[in-house]
Amino acid sequence: MAEYSPETIPDRNPCQSMENAPGRLVEQRLIITLDGPAGSGKTTVARMVATELGIAYLDSGAMFRAVALRLGGHSWNMGRETLRERLADLEFSLRGRGGETELLLDGEPLAEEIRREEVGMWASNLAKVGVVRDILKQAQRSLGVRTSLVAEGRDMGSVVFPQARYKFFLEATPEERAKRRWLQLKEMGVEEDLDALVANLRQRDDQDRNRPIAPLKPADDAVLINTAGLAPVDVVLRVVQEIGLV
Ligand code: DC
Repeated sequence: MAEYSPETIPDRNPCQSMENAPGRLVEQRLIITLDGPAGSGKTTVARMVATELGIAYLDSGAMFRAVALRLGGHSWNMGRETLRERLADLEFSLRGRGGETELLLDGEPLAEEIRREEVGMWASNLAKVGVVRDILKQAQRSLGVRTSLVAEGRDMGSVVFPQARYKFFLEATPEERAKRRWLQLKEMGVEEDLDALVANLRQRDDQDRNRPIAPLKPADDAVLINTAGLAPVDVVLRVVQEIGLV
């Protein structure tokens, strides 16, 4: 693919002020959002697009997972004020760019343990709680003020970065997504039952789509990409074509 820098990216919507900086015009970084359900391949695609563009990527699901792991199972029942206190001092930052981007919590890389299926389910439960979403939304926005980003998650285009210049939403059936996840786990030497993975994805989809705050849904101005039968590189091509880079 072509070599370019973020400065050469077509400027469809320049110079907007950030919603969370009232009265102050903040230079607009390039934000590309990539949302979709669990297992839709967002992280792989976001990492590859970020590498193409030479900018950082943000795995917002990893933020929910990291918080869930730190607070443990059933933390979603802790109550608003306790959660606010426990989350008040957490500091997320990004290091590096492209595929090398690292998300740090309190200056440390996130533990591999956040990838456990169980932690994904905890994260999905915690993500229903308004105070948790508010705190992480502010953290995500401040990362986007500091650096250009490919931001992936559930509500990046619809809620966190509504002013993003380019928005994408990846779709695929639970069966296709579970199969992809099953193969990934197998490559990592982990044997999972495929039917259990499908059931788990369906339950998480249901929770993520039907929660009252920031449910999983495409932003009105997002480009929908059905990833069925597409390799990550094909999806990346669609994204960079849409941005106007090839
Ligand atoms: O993308 P993931 O599967 O790692 O995300 C884990 C959970 O975190 C997901 O089931 C719901 C929640 N999440 C969210 O509510 N909003 C986001 N932007 C990202 C993740």
